Amino acid sequence: MNIDPVFGADRYARYANLRADAPVERIKTPPGTPGPAELWLVSRHDDVVAALHDARLHLEQPPQYQFGIRTLLNTDPPDHTRLRRVVSGLFTRKRIQSLRIAVQAIADDLIDHLPAGETIDFIERFAVPLPITVICQMLGIPADDWRLFREWTPKIFNTDEESVTTRPAAVAQLIQYMGGLVRTKRDHPADDVTTTVIQNGKDVLSEQELLSTLMLLLIAGHETTVNLLGNGLLALIQHPDQLELLRSDPARTPDAVEELLRYDSPVSHATIRYASEDLTIAGVRIAAGEGLLLALGSANHDPALVSEADDLNVQRNGNQHLAFGQGLHYCLGAPLARLEGQLAFDTLLRRSSEISLAVEPKELQWRISPLMRGLHALPIQLSSIA
Ligand code: HEM
Repeated sequence: MNIDPVFGADRYARYANLRADAPVERIKTPPGTPGPAELWLVSRHDDVVAALHDARLHLEQPPQYQFGIRTLLNTDPPDHTRLRRVVSGLFTRKRIQSLRIAVQAIADDLIDHLPAGETIDFIERFAVPLPITVICQMLGIPADDWRLFREWTPKIFNTDEESVTTRPAAVAQLIQYMGGLVRTKRDHPADDVTTTVIQNGKDVLSEQELLSTLMLLLIAGHETTVNLLGNGLLALIQHPDQLELLRSDPARTPDAVEELLRYDSPVSHATIRYASEDLTIAGVRIAAGEGLLLALGSANHDPALVSEADDLNVQRNGNQHLAFGQGLHYCLGAPLARLEGQLAFDTLLRRSSEISLAVEPKELQWRISPLMRGLHALPIQLSSIA
């Protein structure tokens, strides 16, 4: 089977078929995807959870697929432990809560600039600038530079022809930019995450590991949250009863954000693992060196996780979704993503009276990416803004 662009549109129906008939299915990755041409897609919740905790499944690519950049997301212990220790204290819940006022101010400022009654692209005007501005502030990157990343990072994840062709140049530009940032912060240390990573990483990280750690924070710090905001708002617009429930009781927002993360997960099946030895999952034999895609989005729609899994229900609580992964590589930025999601939806619903889709749902374009689940654009109208 091919992972084709259609996966973007009707992937939950396809996931359901896979969970029923072929829970470990061999698929061809789109041309341009780094790594093997074929992977095993694991779609059932219990198999995905077991795989996330299975020490025989590694993140480090077999030598033929390595491309020289070592990050938390392609290393295993003991290297992963060493890299993670440098950054683990920077994104704790307590630290992130101290950003509440700053994130709220960014959300309010973005909404202040939205015209009521006109069609706007929510992705471009809100979902992208919010998390990018936050992570740039945290890293001590000048605010105006985020437009550069907006141009470079989609090319790293998307697999359409243009992105694939321009990817090497985009990666080179990003590396060069981060090199400049590190030089600046070494000369002028500041109260920011980049300076702390440089200091914590002294004698622990190689120069290349330092750069790739910062790049990962920058990229992971916005590419995913954009899709939480975009996919989440679309889901709410398409379920007006749920939107009204949330509007009438904003105290539900934290639970609602968990449900939106589950319902249309931003990282739908990005979690890649490689078998370090021959093993069997759901009766299917995986040979050493073969790669697996753990489909978090499918696991999150498995009735084994929650009842009526294909329904959006902002009143669910105790939602044990896998949108942030699980185990050693559990998302470092989860507290930040949650804070951004909660403040974004709370502010949006509080300050706008009616939110409607400005195009037919079938006209919406999903990104062609086996890793990220997100929209190119989300045209909406806000009837009035307070
Ligand atoms: C790891 C999802 C936001 C930083 C992960 C993983 C997932 C994930 C699924 C695990 C990947 C694996 O096991 O292979 C998300 C989602 C987000 C989000 C859905 C937003 C809604 C963020 C933010 C940051 C961040 C805001 C901020 C810096 C990271 C890092 C890792 C990671 C550094 C690697 C952790 C490790 O390998 O030890 N994320 N993420 N993420 N995430 Fe996030």
